[in-house]
Amino acid sequence: MKIAIIGQSGQLARALIREAATQNINAKSYNRHQCDLSSAPNLIEDFISRLDVDAVILAAAYTAVDAAEDDYQTALAVNARAPKAVAKACAQRGFALVHISTDYVFKGRSRTPYLVTAPTDPVNAYGRTKRMGESAVLEAHDRAAILRTSWVFDGSGKNFMTTMLRLGAKRAALSVVDDQIGRPTYAGHLAQACLTIAAALCGKYGAQASGLYHVTNSGEAISWAKFAAAIFARAENDLAQTVKVTPITSADYPTPAERPGYSVLDLSRFESLHGTLPHWREGLELAYREWVDNKT
Ligand SMILES: NC(=O)c1ccc[n+]([C@@H]2O[C@H](COP(=O)([O-])OP(=O)(O)OC[C@H]3O[C@@H](n4cnc5c(N)ncnc54)[C@H](OP(=O)(O)O)[C@@H]3O)[C@@H](O)[C@H]2O)c1
Repeated sequence: MKIAIIGQSGQLARALIREAATQNINAKSYNRHQCDLSSAPNLIEDFISRLDVDAVILAAAYTAVDAAEDDYQTALAVNARAPKAVAKACAQRGFALVHISTDYVFKGRSRTPYLVTAPTDPVNAYGRTKRMGESAVLEAHDRAAILRTSWVFDGSGKNFMTTMLRLGAKRAALSVVDDQIGRPTYAGHLAQACLTIAAALCGKYGAQASGLYHVTNSGEAISWAKFAAAIFARAENDLAQTVKVTPITSADYPTPAERPGYSVLDLSRFESLHGTLPHWREGLELAYREWVDNKT
């Protein structure tokens, strides 16, 4: 399988590059200068049309959730118009497409995991643009899969885990939101899932593998405060001090964009076809070792 990864420096793109190399998959990645997703759709279509691959994985996106509230037009271009252009070109050229979306397409008022068939109701501007991207991709291409995921982290990017470890090195106590419940996803495991779905779209399942999937690590759903506590428990021997996590509410930590109170995704479609991804604690262990390696 020959794949193009659109994106190079993001958490998922970096994990895809690594994982494709591990699996001996012929993969080439493209950065913002080679394929700017905020540019005109015909330019994006031209770029994709010139590729010679079996599958495209669209790993880049406008991910600045709070900034999207004010910078909606850029978020819309990158998260909705560009995926549509990529999907159109992939359909014309016969490339399978794997696209990534988010738990933020849900408002988060549920108390049971969201099925892939659950009606969407985006919680913020970023979520609205990502939802539009999902629909545009599925309309434009019948051999395209969309993986909705949540709380992505690794050991080197800018994410919740690395932020906690950076702050924990300086402070003995941190206040962390305890009323948003979700499931963390290690970027390396998400990359493996993307490659599995790409292979399914390119192999015996073909278009049957199309449509929506929910993909996160397995394990119990937790709050950000509980995730922070798990991170500090793992890091205990390496930090100069024990870090106390004080649970607070979302109201105590206002952000420009609202977050879902509960965004646990039901994983059964992916799991029934491809098995269960590891527990998030296993992802945490791998990401933590990456973080330690990067420090030294
Ligand atoms: N991170 C999460 O917690 C999370 C949760 C749910 C879903 N997702 C989804 O998962 C996917 C991967 O996210 P991630 O965590 O890997 O994001 P990330 O680390 O924030 O990386 C985003 C990437 O997109 C690139 N990008 C932004 N604007 C671009 C443009 N105009 N043209 C080309 N590239 C552009 C960035 O390039 P530069 O480095 O050049 O800026 C960066 O490499 C996205 O679809 C995201 O919506 C993420």
